[in-house]
Amino acid sequence: MNDAQHDLPFGRWIQSRIYSAGVFGRRPSVPTHPAALEELGLKAMSPAARDYVQTGAGAGSTMTANRAAFDKHRIVPRMLRDVSRRDQSITLLGRELPSPLLTAPIGVLEMAHPEADLAVARGARAAQTPMIISSQASYPMEQIAGALGDHPSWFQLYWSNQPSVVESFVRRAEAIDAEAIVVTLDTTVLGWRTLDLDRAFLPFARGMGIAQYTSDPAFQALVEARVAADDLPTPDGRPTPTAVRSLLSITRNYPGDFRDNLRSAHPRAAVQTFLDVFSRTDLTWADLATLRAMTKLPILVKGVQSADDARLALEHGVDGIIVSNHGGRQVDGAIGSLDALAEIVPVVDGTVPVLFDSGIRCGADVYKVLALGASAVCIGRPYVYGLAIAGADGVREVLEHFRAELDLMMATTGVTSIAEIDRSTLA
Ligand code: FNR
Repeated sequence: MNDAQHDLPFGRWIQSRIYSAGVFGRRPSVPTHPAALEELGLKAMSPAARDYVQTGAGAGSTMTANRAAFDKHRIVPRMLRDVSRRDQSITLLGRELPSPLLTAPIGVLEMAHPEADLAVARGARAAQTPMIISSQASYPMEQIAGALGDHPSWFQLYWSNQPSVVESFVRRAEAIDAEAIVVTLDTTVLGWRTLDLDRAFLPFARGMGIAQYTSDPAFQALVEARVAADDLPTPDGRPTPTAVRSLLSITRNYPGDFRDNLRSAHPRAAVQTFLDVFSRTDLTWADLATLRAMTKLPILVKGVQSADDARLALEHGVDGIIVSNHGGRQVDGAIGSLDALAEIVPVVDGTVPVLFDSGIRCGADVYKVLALGASAVCIGRPYVYGLAIAGADGVREVLEHFRAELDLMMATTGVTSIAEIDRSTLA
């Protein structure tokens, strides 16, 4: 932060920071153009990480629909309105936020950068953007909370088929002062993710992205029971180099001393246990009552794509809805998430906040989402590209660019507050 920020609106400040650095021959380390950001971000990752982040379900047509839905809406700029003072702050679940952005929960970030969620926490904090911590994070939520300090976070829950793990995750989220629980509804099974399938690569099977579990007392009890029962599959055939690499990865990712882990059955038992307990495919709306009884924290449901499900969510007492199709990773051939938003907003009719993700690539996209009635947005893949390019600074820059562009979009379209970004701003 620098003093100039206090004098200039946010967009002008970031813009002038970039142009001033340019006088000395420096370009932004994180590109501002969405396609350039994606290209550089993907280039900074290993091929397996690239595929893991990039893959959609099946042929990827939902990802195409996500983008096409944005292209259907066009903004109509208005002129000669005093836009000298612009304010993009919002109030969400009782908390005032400087902008309508949050980071979407994204798992296995160690594939993009070794500091993973810790770097996201530092970057999000520097950019004053709340972080939604993933169930599939690469670091335990307590360590992520340490990197966040007093900066706000929410916790995203994948509903395990082991009630003890669900309850323990919720208690830990309360203990780190997470301000809401986000239950992801769309991933009771993993979608048919073709880039991962063709690589035969599932990060969890290599011990990646399961740190919330291996650090969890309820999960550890399940692992102990498995080890005691000697219930581990025996590898068939001679070990291949890939099998050895996988074993090393599993061992390295398990908490504790690497050499002790190498001699122990626990790391392998943990992976196997995770694969068994990850999710409940028999989850129904009625189960939300269990969560409601468990915690006083606000509960949001993520993955709603139909007006009928939005109605059901309201009937079951949720405190917020995140309209999302998981970035097209779950269902191929589905509607664009922004098309779903337009159906859902009138149903919810302002009773609870409606958040949105899936396909947002720039500040103009954020503007369209807000114009269609969302209260706030979750940024997904773009911050992963920033993370891969430049760690915490990369995450901060991506989020700052979104906020700066939104500010300049407000100025160039003639609005001065988020409330003014409504349907009337669209053609
Ligand atoms: C995700 N997403 C996700 N969602 C969730 O609830 N928990 C998770 O652990 C993950 N993990 C995850 C990993 C990767 C690599 C991606 C790309 C996405 C979905 C995420 O929260 C969000 O819905 C999408 O990223 C939005 O789509 P775009 O904007 O990234 O295309």
